[in-house]
Amino acid sequence: MSKNGEKPARLLIRDLSQVASPAGRSAPVRGAELRAIDLVADAYILCEDGRIADVGPMQELWRLDDDVVEVDGRGLSAVPGLVDCHTHACFAGDRVDEFSQRAAGATYEELHARGGGILSTVRATREAGEAGLAAALSRHQAWMLRAGTTTFEAKSGYGLDRDTELTQLRVIKSAGGVPTWLGAHAVPPEFADAGADAYVDFLIEDVLPDAALLAEAADVFLERGAFDLAQARRVLLASRSSGLELRLHGDQFTEAGAIPLAIELNARSVDHLESTGSTGIDALSSSAVVGVLLPASALFLGRPMPPARALVDAGAAIALATDFNPGSAYCESLPLVCALAATQLRLAPEEALTACTVNAAHVLSRADRKGRLARGFDADIVLVAADDWRHLAYHLGGDVVHTVVRGGRIESTARA
Ligand code: NIG
Ligand code: FE
Repeated sequence: MSKNGEKPARLLIRDLSQVASPAGRSAPVRGAELRAIDLVADAYILCEDGRIADVGPMQELWRLDDDVVEVDGRGLSAVPGLVDCHTHACFAGDRVDEFSQRAAGATYEELHARGGGILSTVRATREAGEAGLAAALSRHQAWMLRAGTTTFEAKSGYGLDRDTELTQLRVIKSAGGVPTWLGAHAVPPEFADAGADAYVDFLIEDVLPDAALLAEAADVFLERGAFDLAQARRVLLASRSSGLELRLHGDQFTEAGAIPLAIELNARSVDHLESTGSTGIDALSSSAVVGVLLPASALFLGRPMPPARALVDAGAAIALATDFNPGSAYCESLPLVCALAATQLRLAPEEALTACTVNAAHVLSRADRKGRLARGFDADIVLVAADDWRHLAYHLGGDVVHTVVRGGRIESTARA
């Protein structure tokens, strides 16, 4: 503590076995560059006023005055705070009953077609009210933070009416999340007769003007049974005119034109890609659009894994995210996603780390200050409970996150 009893402005993490950070300064990182990690052994990190003031080897550490909190990093390694750029964490209730039905053979698409799936979470979310929803998000956010996520995006899309969509965006924003408007997630029951085109009209005319004041990006679920290419284009074009960045759920079950649309509209990302074939891989790899891969969702639904290796080898920029939601990925853990990337997607731990730090930060337009452990970046740091940082991906489902620092403050630690 400082002499006046206030929070000290400086935090020193010393004697770390390793500090690992994506190399360079540019974003997004693509192709072979995804493997480039700067590694400092026997290292320290000094944080000042919420930013990283210095990273270096212990022998270069200058004597510091008293007004510094020291953290003993022996036996630990440091990576940047993890960035989850694709979640649906703002939901009420759960879908454990449907989970059991799926275990007994029902498919995700069948449950959706029967009015379950996304629409059952819509019912729970509409009923929760703003305070109930904020409490649910806070619980989910605490899980994510303990797993090392210091920056998270979350989408609306469980309101599907004007008020609940806006409530979701407000709740996400007040929790410090990055809000994405996903009004076009499913057609709600009130529009079952009028149809998806009429719902898209409603979204653009009645919801977008206010959603654009709260959200940073718009997203559409482009899929058989959800929204088609023409509907997705209308929502995204209107959203772009309202100043929003664009995202797209695409190629999850079928290839319905998501990659060409994302490229045409200069979207930040196209997400899922479990069904992407070679034409899509080639197109995405030579574009500026980031492919966001969600292996926890593929695993949870027993779907094929996205073609991560082919994308990276073709020069694509990829990010990794959890897709945390109650239906297709009840999983808040980016370390588990890194383990899936290494074991199922054939990505190196280095590629996985870059994908869920700097590239995910780029998807959220924050790569200038998040996703790297370098001077001037936000002091968001994960201390991995091992002397080699690659345990982040190696320890499958393990308790691998020791301490989480966000904005230069210790937010969670295994040490009493
Ligand atoms: O990304 N595919 C569409 N949306 C989510 C699932 C949402 C849900 O099932 O509640 C996804 O997988
Ligand atoms: Fe999703």
